[in-house]
Amino acid sequence: MAEVKLEKIRDGTVIDHVPAGRALQVLRVLGVDDKFSDIVALLMNVESRRTGRKDVIKVENKVLSKEETDRLALVAPNATINIIKSYEVRKKTRVELPKEFVGIVKCANPQCVTNHEPVATRFSIESNNPIQLRCRYCERTQ
Ligand code: CTP
Ligand code: ZN
Repeated sequence: MAEVKLEKIRDGTVIDHVPAGRALQVLRVLGVDDKFSDIVALLMNVESRRTGRKDVIKVENKVLSKEETDRLALVAPNATINIIKSYEVRKKTRVELPKEFVGIVKCANPQCVTNHEPVATRFSIESNNPIQLRCRYCERTQ
């Protein structure tokens, strides 16, 4: 298959090497919905040197927040975040799991205090691949 390419963007973020099929989840993490007005480009299931198949998401004029970067680690571990300025890749970082997820994920335990009191959820990483999180309040893993 010929290599599929998209136009380069001027300023914004390119999330590359996303596991094939995860692009729509990445869009959700980035808050791209029907109200979003900047340019978004999406490639799904294209060939990748690294992983066989990958998805690529380009969002113009977007800089990821810490929360978005953390949530990205859950849906696209090992993806690459490229920050583009004036058409150049200014910064390239690998998505990494944070040590802790604070206020990002809901606890699946209906009895957990975080589902009853206004406290931020807090999870540590129990294991990678598949990723398992442990609630610091009730110890439940998910
Ligand atoms: N890109 C873009 N617009 C630009 C510059 C780059 O959309 N103005 C995209 C490229 O198409 C690519 C990604 O950003 O998907 C990273 O660009 P680059 O580092 O040039 O590509 P590679 O060297 O292939 O990246 P890697 O080594 O991370 O695979
Ligand atoms: Zn809990």
